[in-house]
Amino acid sequence: MNHCKKLGMAALLLSSSLMAEEVSKDVSKADDLKTIMKGLLTETLKLTEGIIQTDYLMIEKSANKIANHPPANMATRKKLAKEFGPEMLKFKNFDSIVHTSALDILEASKEQDMVKIIGDYQKIVQGCQDCHSVFRERAVEILSKN
Ligand code: HEC
Repeated sequence: MNHCKKLGMAALLLSSSLMAEEVSKDVSKADDLKTIMKGLLTETLKLTEGIIQTDYLMIEKSANKIANHPPANMATRKKLAKEFGPEMLKFKNFDSIVHTSALDILEASKEQDMVKIIGDYQKIVQGCQDCHSVFRERAVEILSKN
């Protein structure tokens, strides 16, 4: 490879990594439910890795992102509230379980209390699964209509 081509490749790599940065920034701000959920999955996987590797910093960072995930946009929340009616309370409660357990992990990771972290981790995963089993399909259906 000649020098010019090498430079071109380097520029290409650089610009594509900048683009990746841009995209991930957008994702962390996005407010559609699907994107928020993808972010939650990414952070839950990081949390799992942090636990397996006993990496308290990684645990702390991912728990923080889970606890403070962006809210779904107003239009989405309105649509769901309208269709779920009083069940919306249950929906919100599942979200609170995930939120509170992530906050508890934040605390426990500062104390490096792995037993507590694992307990709260289970609550988080249970919270994801509980909400999905009751609401996910229905929400997909509701949000696919305008
Ligand atoms: C309060 C309810 C609720 C909780 C809690 C919840 N989810 Fe979801 N999740 C949903 C709904 C509703 C959808 C469907 C969204 C859509 O397709 O528009 C969904 C979809 C998903 C998807 C699929 C996204 C896609 O690409 O189609 C993933 C992945 C996901 N959730 C991960 C998680 C993880 C990880 C957690 C826990 C940390 C979690 N969710 C907690 C309600 C919830």
